[in-house]
Amino acid sequence: MLNFNYSIPTKVFFGKDKINTLSENIKEYGNKILLVYGGGSIKKTGLYDDIVKIFKNDHIKYFELEGVKPNPRIDTVRKGIQICKENDIDLVLAVGGGSVIDASKVIAAGVHYDGDAWDIVLDPRKIYKALPIATILTLAATGSEMDAGAVITNPETKQKLGTGSPNIFPKFSILDPTYTFSVPKNQTAAGVVDIMSHVFEVYFSKTNEAYLQNRMAEAVLKTCINYGPKVMSEPENYEARANLMWAGSLAINGLLAYGKETEWSAHEIEHELSAYYDITHGVGLAILFPYWMEYVLSEDTVDKFVEYGINVWDIDKTKDKFEIAKSSIEKTRDFFNSLDMPSTLSDVDIDDKHLDEMAKGAVARGTLGSFKALEKEDVFKIYQMSL
Ligand code: NZQ
Ligand code: ZN
Repeated sequence: MLNFNYSIPTKVFFGKDKINTLSENIKEYGNKILLVYGGGSIKKTGLYDDIVKIFKNDHIKYFELEGVKPNPRIDTVRKGIQICKENDIDLVLAVGGGSVIDASKVIAAGVHYDGDAWDIVLDPRKIYKALPIATILTLAATGSEMDAGAVITNPETKQKLGTGSPNIFPKFSILDPTYTFSVPKNQTAAGVVDIMSHVFEVYFSKTNEAYLQNRMAEAVLKTCINYGPKVMSEPENYEARANLMWAGSLAINGLLAYGKETEWSAHEIEHELSAYYDITHGVGLAILFPYWMEYVLSEDTVDKFVEYGINVWDIDKTKDKFEIAKSSIEKTRDFFNSLDMPSTLSDVDIDDKHLDEMAKGAVARGTLGSFKALEKEDVFKIYQMSL
């Protein structure tokens, strides 16, 4: 196992009605809030009204930034920073999914940065300080509620890039599974794929001796496989929503990655798809991940796939190792299909027009991963396989 420093500073308030902790938690940081949310789902579900009522009762002053879009745009971030600066905001409260949370994180960091906010996306080292951030999660997927990352899109430059800093860990997150009852089927499924993909990015690693992390990773994957189909047919099943919500946070808060070399190549490859075609992150991953697996499978990597196939998919361990590996990949693809996720780029109307530019973009910050290191030509081939 490699050396590591443990630090997951976000306090989590998990369960039904945990919103009753909101005011006391906010008041640790001040009294003036920027409330950030998306395209209106929180108004439809009544969560917005509940929050505003709490603010009024507890004399919390709030300003609003609404309309954060999926694949959140840098322009919206700039708008949020301006509101914070003009109104001397104490805390940024994100209410929504990963897009709302990610935008809020970069807003909070941008307030303490003198130049343009896109600089701190391009170069995370420029995140020197940030306003406190808190979240109320409404979609189980990205884990942004408990991690230090954010992904922002710049449509002008056709870039979608991740940034991150310990300064942008949320101070606290309220995770009430009932808030995810209303998530539509396609977003629910994309969320399950995203959670599993976060596990894959740290599970498929060259570090073999992290036995404990690997077993915990398999537990998160099995949770998704167990509850994914259930939540598609029973969207208001509390047990299923709760297990998926917690799986989403644990998948990417660092716990499974400590002591390991990690990968994150399929995520970079997917972010290019979202940048060029504005597709849902989890949908892109559902298409790409099985092809990434096929591409990286070799004599060098096969044992990891055997471990995955036997422990996660219960494949007969007496079979030939490549047979087990291939079958584990097929089972992954079949599982995503069973959640009505597409399996090729043409299923989502993407052709070969931008493959070369996207492959170049995916490796713009350097070679991807180390489980099997990928250069531009490799990424291009994975896109081609996925057509
Ligand atoms: O905008 P509203 O009206 O709220 O609707 C949203 C949006 O249309 C809707 N939704 C959310 N909660 C709902 C709901 N609809 C009904 N009921 C609810 N309770 O779902 C749609 C998608 O929301 P979004 O926030 O975009 O989804 P998600 O949470 O999957 O976030 C995706 C973004 O996060 C980034 C992705 O790249 C993408 O931009 N990621 C962030 C990561 C991180 N910070 O660590 C890691 C991930 O790998 C990922 O890259
Ligand atoms: Zn993801």
